[in-house]
Amino acid sequence: MQVANSKEHIGDIILDLRKNDTSIGFVPTMGALHKGHLSLIKKALQENDVVFVSIFVNPTQFDNQKDLKNYPRTLDRDVELLKTVSDSKIFVYAPTVEDIYGKHPKAKRFDFDGLEHEMEGEFRDGHFDGVGTIVKRLFEIVTPDRAYFGEKDFQQLQIIRKLVDKNNLPVKIVGCKIHRETTGLAMSSRNERLLPEYKKAAPFIFRTLQEAKKKFGTKSATKVTEWVKKQFEKNQLLELEYFIIADIETLKPVKRKSQSKKYRAFIAVYAGEIRLIDNIALN
Ligand code: PAF
Repeated sequence: MQVANSKEHIGDIILDLRKNDTSIGFVPTMGALHKGHLSLIKKALQENDVVFVSIFVNPTQFDNQKDLKNYPRTLDRDVELLKTVSDSKIFVYAPTVEDIYGKHPKAKRFDFDGLEHEMEGEFRDGHFDGVGTIVKRLFEIVTPDRAYFGEKDFQQLQIIRKLVDKNNLPVKIVGCKIHRETTGLAMSSRNERLLPEYKKAAPFIFRTLQEAKKKFGTKSATKVTEWVKKQFEKNQLLELEYFIIADIETLKPVKRKSQSKKYRAFIAVYAGEIRLIDNIALN
């Protein structure tokens, strides 16, 4: 498996592949790979000749320096895991911060038509400027035909679609279903940092989302939201940061349900020091 640490090296590999009209799928990651990532990579392998996986903990999307410092960095293990999927068709780009940003890592400012101010945007200052900056940069370096993103970060997925639209980037964005542990907990690199009692408690998040979905069939968004808040008030271990039922296009909270619109419920929860997010399609 080829692992490149610089954009020059990646550029050479791509130039060579493109001579043979090879199609390129791309899965950007921050490493600490798990089955959720592997499912994106497998889908990308089905739809493209080769797949590039970037492994880069992007400093500009963290509003919390402690979170950035504690983010797991497991490159050797990640590469071994990728080899179990394919040794010859997967290429890894694991750049240094300097390779991407030069001497001064800084995010550009983006206008995503307001999507960036909702939910994660409200609770994580500047987060989507950081995501937009790195994803655009990676698209320029890797020049993929298709790029794959998980629906667990549904707001990120919609923002990346907007980034591509607004900048006319020549890449197709493919959204992929949330991969869950058998307990229902959405797969995340953060799960491995959960202390045992929190790991045991965390499947409550998805159970509550499923119940909220049932209730949304007959009750208003406000009533469902009140119900969810009550469930978390009774929970000793999990602390609810937000629960929002939103229109999937605007990501704005629902005031009045409309038959013609699609909705999702979004949630962020602290399990001890670890922040977990999840979401569910409601209709
Ligand atoms: O979803 C992630 O892991 C990151 O936000 C991404 C898309 C790799 C950008 O750093």
